[in-house]
Amino acid sequence: MEPKRIVRRYWDKRSQTYDENGYKSHNATQNFWKSILKNAVRTDENLKILDVGTGTGFLSLLFAEMEHSVTGIDLSKGMLEKARHNAGKLDLTVDFIHGDAENLPFEDETFDIVINRHLLWTIPNPRIAVDEWSRVVKSGGKIMLIDGKWYDSSIDMRLRRFIGKIIVSITEKRNPRMFMSHYARIKSQFPFFNGSAPNDVIDIFAEAGLKNISVDNLEKLKRFENKNRSLSYKISNKPSLFLALGEK
Ligand SMILES: C[S@@+](CC[C@H](N)C(=O)[O-])C[C@H]1O[C@@H](n2cnc3c(N)ncnc32)[C@H](O)[C@@H]1O
Repeated sequence: MEPKRIVRRYWDKRSQTYDENGYKSHNATQNFWKSILKNAVRTDENLKILDVGTGTGFLSLLFAEMEHSVTGIDLSKGMLEKARHNAGKLDLTVDFIHGDAENLPFEDETFDIVINRHLLWTIPNPRIAVDEWSRVVKSGGKIMLIDGKWYDSSIDMRLRRFIGKIIVSITEKRNPRMFMSHYARIKSQFPFFNGSAPNDVIDIFAEAGLKNISVDNLEKLKRFENKNRSLSYKISNKPSLFLALGEK
C-alpha cells in the first residue's frame, strides 16, 4: 500500500486518543506555547497563517485565539474531525481542510506564515514539502517548523520505551503497538523518521532558498514539558525540541 495511505489510516485511528496527551495542566500548556508563538511571530497584526499537518488543531487553535486568520490542513479526516470539534468547543473559527503537505491546494503567496509541528518525521519528501510551503508564503513571509530528535536507539532508551509502553497500555487504554504495526513497513521511506536536528532543518531551509534562518532550542519549554507530562511520556521520551524559522 502507498505510504501516505498507511499514514492516513494510522492517524485516522490515532485521532481517537491523540488529545489524551498526558499533560498535567492543559491551560498551563496552552499559555506556555502561546508565549513561544508570540515571541516567534513578533507582531500583533492579524496574519494569514497555514498550519500544515494540523492534526487536532493544536497550533491552529492557539493562533486563532490570538486572533489570527488560520487555515489548518491535514491528510487524516479523523484528525480534522477532532480539530473541528475542538474549535467548536472554544467557539473559534479555523478553516480546516483535507489535503497533502507536499501538494497544497492554495495559490502562490497566499499566507504570511506557514507553520508545522511534529510533521517532518512523517513526510516522504521533506525538500518537496518545504518548497511547497515556501511557494504559498508571501514574499517576506515566514516558515516556522517545530520538530525534535524523537528516537534514541541506546539500550537505556529502549528499556525506558518498553516500560513506557506497558504503562500506556494500562493507564491510557490504547495499544502502544498500533504505531509500529502501521509505520514499520514504511518508515524507511521517511528520511527524518527518527526525528530531525536543527542542522538538518537549517540545511533544507537554505536549499529551499529561505533567508534569515534561525533556531530556538526551546530550553524553557523542555523544562516545562518535563514537569507537565505524564509518567509514561517522561519515561519513554528524552525531551528534544526546537523551533526553526526561515524567511522567504
Ligand atoms: C504528530 S501529528 C502532529 C499534529 C499537530 N501538528 C500537533 O502538533 O499536535 C502529525 C500529523 O501530520 C499529519 N500528516 C502526516 N502526513 C501528512 C501529509 N503528507 N500532509 C498533511 N498532513 C500529514 C497526520 O495526519 C497527523 O495529524
